[in-house]
Amino acid sequence: MTQMLTLAPTDALPGHALEVLLTEEQIQKRVGELGARITQDYANAREPLLLVGVLKGAALFLADLARCISRPLELDFVAIASYGVATQTSGEVRVLKDLEAPVAGKHVLIVEDILDTGLTLRFSYLMETLRARHARSVKVCVLLDKPARRRVPVTADYRGFEIEDRFVVGYGMDYAEHYRHLRYIAALTRNDAGLERV
Ligand code: IMP
Repeated sequence: MTQMLTLAPTDALPGHALEVLLTEEQIQKRVGELGARITQDYANAREPLLLVGVLKGAALFLADLARCISRPLELDFVAIASYGVATQTSGEVRVLKDLEAPVAGKHVLIVEDILDTGLTLRFSYLMETLRARHARSVKVCVLLDKPARRRVPVTADYRGFEIEDRFVVGYGMDYAEHYRHLRYIAALTRNDAGLERV
């Protein structure tokens, strides 16, 4: 469910237009709900809960989500680059930053910014790695889901918003490293080319 709410022209680079899809208020409300659900779901778990944010896109989401979870919690980050073309379902990944915390015996919740085609190797790599390191359980929490783009059947255990097939930036997500700092999420269009996907 998305709607055009307002334009945010002052944050845009020359030649770009930002159309706000999710306001700061909407995001914070939903993150609070996700945090409450996660708190409830792990209420009876005796083992530690470790949130693993996938850099860089999930950094802001993880920071807010963690503060909405009321139970003992550990935080860690990974950065993973995938090789090969986007349509590949298997291949190599390069770990730019590995987990620092041991995961054995812990409940792990992977925190991602956006689930798009589902083809990135990051999910399968992380799942395999975490299981091989004897995590007690592994679940996935994504802020945004673009089901229209899905090409392989990946589902997230927790999902913030379902959005239409548009290229979005803000709240951690970037276009060429720009716009990550925005408090809202916007669809990016380029005025010159008139393209939705950049
Ligand atoms: P996929 O699900 O394998 O297609 O890849 C998802 C990843 O692609 C996300 O974690 C983002 O890093 C990136 N991505 C996909 N769509 C967008 C977008 O609209 N804006 C910014 N990054 C995106």
